[in-house]
Amino acid sequence: MKVAIIGPGNMGLGIARLLVAKDYNVVLAHKDLQVATRLAAKIGTNAQGADVTSAVSDADIVILATPYDSAEVALKEAGDLAGKVLVDITNPITPDYMALTIGHTTSAAEEIAKLAPDAHVVKAFNTVFWQALPFDVRRKKPAVQVLLASDDANAKEKVYAMVTDLEFEAIDAGPLTNARYIEPVGQLNIHFGYALGWGTSISPAWVRLAE
Ligand SMILES: NC(=O)c1ccc[n+]([C@@H]2O[C@H](COP(=O)([O-])OP(=O)(O)OC[C@H]3O[C@@H](n4cnc5c(N)ncnc54)[C@H](OP(=O)(O)O)[C@@H]3O)[C@@H](O)[C@H]2O)c1
Repeated sequence: MKVAIIGPGNMGLGIARLLVAKDYNVVLAHKDLQVATRLAAKIGTNAQGADVTSAVSDADIVILATPYDSAEVALKEAGDLAGKVLVDITNPITPDYMALTIGHTTSAAEEIAKLAPDAHVVKAFNTVFWQALPFDVRRKKPAVQVLLASDDANAKEKVYAMVTDLEFEAIDAGPLTNARYIEPVGQLNIHFGYALGWGTSISPAWVRLAE
């Protein structure tokens, strides 16, 4: 399974490390090929660097891990995403991290779906801090949840399987419009972590009180 990650920053590299540990082939995509190649070399033998267009061309799953404000440019660079599973992990936040820039009547995920109308968009990972990605951090209970929203059942199933392989608890969080509610959860997590003093060793979770 080949996964392209557009945006080799904190989240992109963190997810890449998990994927290569589970024998996925990863292509890191950056606008500067040298940056992509240098970072891929640090991730390991199952990772390659590429420009954005070539990275997505034969990927089964494409993870958009740029800032939300860079999504439009990155998706233009990506080109043809017809039929691809496109995982949107973005939180559309202000530069000081303290507020969402869009919401209520739309979401980053829905706007990204408009920019890539032929892709199957799945919202995921936006409620997980990059510091909470490594296995050794998460191997303490309870499981870190990844909320998945999509209108495409097949795409959601593929991302569900990948997220489960990466030892997260995948949660089906309904249609893509539910990203309108999931993105504020990501924002609340940021408030807990940075404004309310909980730090980044936290993650939001839904608990069942009865079976
Ligand atoms: N940080 C978190 O804990 C966290 C948690 C959940 C979700 N998120 C979301 O995940 C996304 C990434 O966050 P992050 O913390 O990883 O940010 P980051 O460290 O700033 O990484 C973003 C990466 O995207 C690259 N990039 C920007 N424009 C690009 C383009 N057009 N083509 C290819 N690559 C491009 C950046 O490269 P340059 O630096 O060279 O521009 C950088 O490598 C954001 O949308 C954020 O809201 C973050």
